[in-house]
Amino acid sequence: MQLKPMTPHMGAEVLNLDLNQLSQSDVSAVKAAFLQYMVLVFRDQELSEGGHKTFAGHFGELHIHPSKAQLDTRSDPEIFTVRTTPNSQWANGEVWHTDVSCEAIPPLGSVLHVQQLPGESGGDTLFANMYLAFESLSEKMKAWLRTLSAVHDGRKDLARYNIKLKANQTYPQAQHPVVIKHPETGKELLFVNRSFTEKIVGLTRKESDTVLEMLWHHVESAPRFQCRVRWAPGTVVLWDNRCTWHHAVWDYFPSTRHAQRVSIQGTTAPSWSA
Ligand code: SIN
Repeated sequence: MQLKPMTPHMGAEVLNLDLNQLSQSDVSAVKAAFLQYMVLVFRDQELSEGGHKTFAGHFGELHIHPSKAQLDTRSDPEIFTVRTTPNSQWANGEVWHTDVSCEAIPPLGSVLHVQQLPGESGGDTLFANMYLAFESLSEKMKAWLRTLSAVHDGRKDLARYNIKLKANQTYPQAQHPVVIKHPETGKELLFVNRSFTEKIVGLTRKESDTVLEMLWHHVESAPRFQCRVRWAPGTVVLWDNRCTWHHAVWDYFPSTRHAQRVSIQGTTAPSWSA
């Protein structure tokens, strides 16, 4: 296998690898590249649902999205469908986010397979490097953020999709440090995101909203922290959910885009950096 970096700071295309035929040394090489590049793009794959799950399973237990337990109990719990049609009022993931950071132990990564493209172009996915986002802040801001924690609430994300829980339904909420240490690389990174982070603990609502807005602006306005994946038939993408944000671009209305995501269960709760 060969790696072709997508930008100097994140993302790599993985060449000459069939995800259905991985040897143990291929898996080790993919794991090392995953930690280094955060986003890996595999082209021209023929992945069945079973193959998709088997590939994700090389990285850990498969994650079950909280909506599967509460809101959609009929479909395969390990497959999360991302589908946008001419009737959609929103596209899943169209806001910068880290998947399900409202869980006490969020997924460590995800594997996305776009099965129906909206056309010759459109429906790209953007990713942001949250190590670099943190590193680029001033020393004073870094020192202060290291002392803070924030509440991540799944209901904030659901509200975006006009989903209100019924009285008998619950959805995860968790408190995480604002700056965490990646459990495998040991590097510090910013661990808040627009979809799920509801409030910084100990600040007033106005203070928290202002600080979080500053952080969203810091990342969203900096293309140098980001990479962009352009999908093609057979493209499969693996990302490290602990140190990236992603954003699904809905620029293809009224076309349909259909994707399936399999996520990998995290192993440890996000931990304080210092
Ligand atoms: C997601 O996992 O948020 C969806 C990403 C995408 O559809 O590109």
